[in-house]
Amino acid sequence: MKLQRLQPHQNDELARLIHTSLDTWHRTRLNSDRFGTAWEPFRTTVEVYESLDPGCCVVAMDDAGALIGSAFFHPRETHVGVGVVSVHPSAFGCGVGRALMEEIIRIAGDQPLRLVSSAMNLDSFSLYTRLGFVPQVTLQAVTLDVPADGLPGASTRMRAATIADVPAIADFELRLNGVRKEQDYRFFAENKTDGWRLAVIEKADGALAGFLAASTHASGPQLGQGVAEDEATMQALVHEMLDRHFRGKHVVWLLPVGCSGLVRQAYAWGTRNRETHLFSVLGEAPPMHGITLPTFLPESG
Ligand SMILES: CC(C)(COP(=O)(O)OP(=O)(O)OC[C@H]1O[C@@H](n2cnc3c(N)ncnc32)[C@H](O)[C@@H]1OP(=O)(O)O)[C@@H](O)C(=O)NCCC(=O)NCCS
Repeated sequence: MKLQRLQPHQNDELARLIHTSLDTWHRTRLNSDRFGTAWEPFRTTVEVYESLDPGCCVVAMDDAGALIGSAFFHPRETHVGVGVVSVHPSAFGCGVGRALMEEIIRIAGDQPLRLVSSAMNLDSFSLYTRLGFVPQVTLQAVTLDVPADGLPGASTRMRAATIADVPAIADFELRLNGVRKEQDYRFFAENKTDGWRLAVIEKADGALAGFLAASTHASGPQLGQGVAEDEATMQALVHEMLDRHFRGKHVVWLLPVGCSGLVRQAYAWGTRNRETHLFSVLGEAPPMHGITLPTFLPESG
């Protein structure tokens, strides 16, 4: 096995690898076909990550040069995010995942590493915890078919964020959660590919009360990342984001199981649980004081 950085000519091969890895794992372990038969939607993942974090994908190749594994990493001011990690089904359990993760741990040096993984996947749970990752937060991935005529009762407190808001959003997350990811919020606010939404709610004095990003990509509409000072603000952000941008869409988002008000409201809208997940850290894990919604795109911790 050889490790190297992803080369541009490998982008489609990588999209196929991510699809077959996730699809085979979920069909054989969870009896779920939710990743479907098409690999093309995973081009979005590769394209987004290559524009957000160019050159930050480690791939594993077999002796014939075929891709057998990949892991994206996302260097940020305070840490390195990790994901998505995928190994070809023919190589499951052969040490490819460990080799990829050890390389990213080497690249990260002194920086903590942060990731979200499935709590229903003992293979990834074992891989990460054997390397020293410690689960911090349990999450539930919920899905909702947003009615075509919207979700009644949404507030009008939310406004679209601009580039000028980006430093304050990054500082807000640093103050509440001890991590900083300005590059992500700049990417969403610039919205060069028109696949992103970024919104804020402010207090009477103009200071931030919370923010929420969302991906409208056809590969899978989803909410997150977002941080708010309290559950009421996050609930208002989620409600208005769904009502304003996702009418008639099937949307997924991650909820910390401990946020009982958000969970109760999600059930009241009719959400279904898709999977449970763990947010884990290798290294220093600052306390998270904010109500925090991570996401699968981008998995920047
Ligand atoms: C999860 C995944 C990346 C793991 O990669 P892999 O190459 O199969 O994993 P490895 O063989 O390198 O390592 C697995 C480790 O877990 C250990 N392990 C596996 N099952 C275990 C168990 N039940 N208890 C304890 N340890 C276990 C193995 O012994 C090995 O540890 P070691 O290297 O210290 O011996 C791979 O299964 C995959 O691609 N799955 C589908 C996509 C996916 O789920 N991605 C993760 C998204 S977060």
